[in-house]
Amino acid sequence: MNPRHYVTFMDLSSAEIRSLIHRAIELKRSKGIYEPLKNKVLGMIFEKSSTRTRVSFETGMIQFGGGAIFLSPRDTQLGRGEPVEDSARVLSRMVDAIMLRTISHRTVEIFAEHSRVPVINGLSDRFHPCQVLADMQTYFEKRGDILGKTVAWVGDGNNMCQTYIHAAQQLGFTLNIACPAGYDPEPELIEQAGSCIRLSRDPMEAVEGANMVVTDVWASMGQEEEQALRAKAFANYQVDSKLMAAAAPDALFMHCLPAHRGEEVSADVIDGPQSVIWDEAENRLHAQKALLEFLMTPA
Ligand code: CP
Ligand code: NVA
Repeated sequence: MNPRHYVTFMDLSSAEIRSLIHRAIELKRSKGIYEPLKNKVLGMIFEKSSTRTRVSFETGMIQFGGGAIFLSPRDTQLGRGEPVEDSARVLSRMVDAIMLRTISHRTVEIFAEHSRVPVINGLSDRFHPCQVLADMQTYFEKRGDILGKTVAWVGDGNNMCQTYIHAAQQLGFTLNIACPAGYDPEPELIEQAGSCIRLSRDPMEAVEGANMVVTDVWASMGQEEEQALRAKAFANYQVDSKLMAAAAPDALFMHCLPAHRGEEVSADVIDGPQSVIWDEAENRLHAQKALLEFLMTPA
């Protein structure tokens, strides 16, 4: 039987995603030892830096009675040109699931195509589905189901924004996106999402009445040399208290972290009362435990 993968937010059904969110909330509350993945091993390939993703997956596997192996291209044959296909074939005969953080999304896809075990996308240039699962858990925990609500994305049409486009379709919320010209999400994703999303150039218009406001860095990993250019393009896209005041009075603020205070978000917003970033970060652990349980202990 072919394994299930989590390469994008569209790889699960809406019902499966809702059930994972509720399971994550349940796992977070539960105390005591629960080891459904005893003796199971997660391989973790990181082509880019990480704090949250690495620690949450590794901790989750240990808490579940298993273990995780950190692999980087610098000290594996992947970095010396061993084909991704071959690496997938070999590793998936040894470990029970594989999580990858890659420069190119295509690498995760190729890995999944040749893997005998579940493959999880821990961030690619196009998507970050584990983060958005944790964000959704955070919203459900604080406000209940997100169905019919409005989320405002302010900033770059990047991997996080593109995963929110998927989440809007899967969970039935409206996504208002405000990004500067030249930084839109991929046109095919916009087209697929249809009326679930509204694209504008005006952050104020996007946040108007929104139940949640979310942003991310202006220059993602690998775009460091564009920092100055992007700082100019995004100058009017900072989430500050004036912008938050236009959202619904009980709107939540989220950010996947790491954040740059004074750039994409002002310090008073990210450290203020509407910000739920620390719960959001913690929920990476719980949401991914629900995901690991789902993928690695199929019914
Ligand atoms: N948000 C997130 O994925 O953080 P890391 O880059 O630290 O893993
Ligand atoms: N968009 C950011 C997210 C980091 C978690 C990046 O890709 O660097």
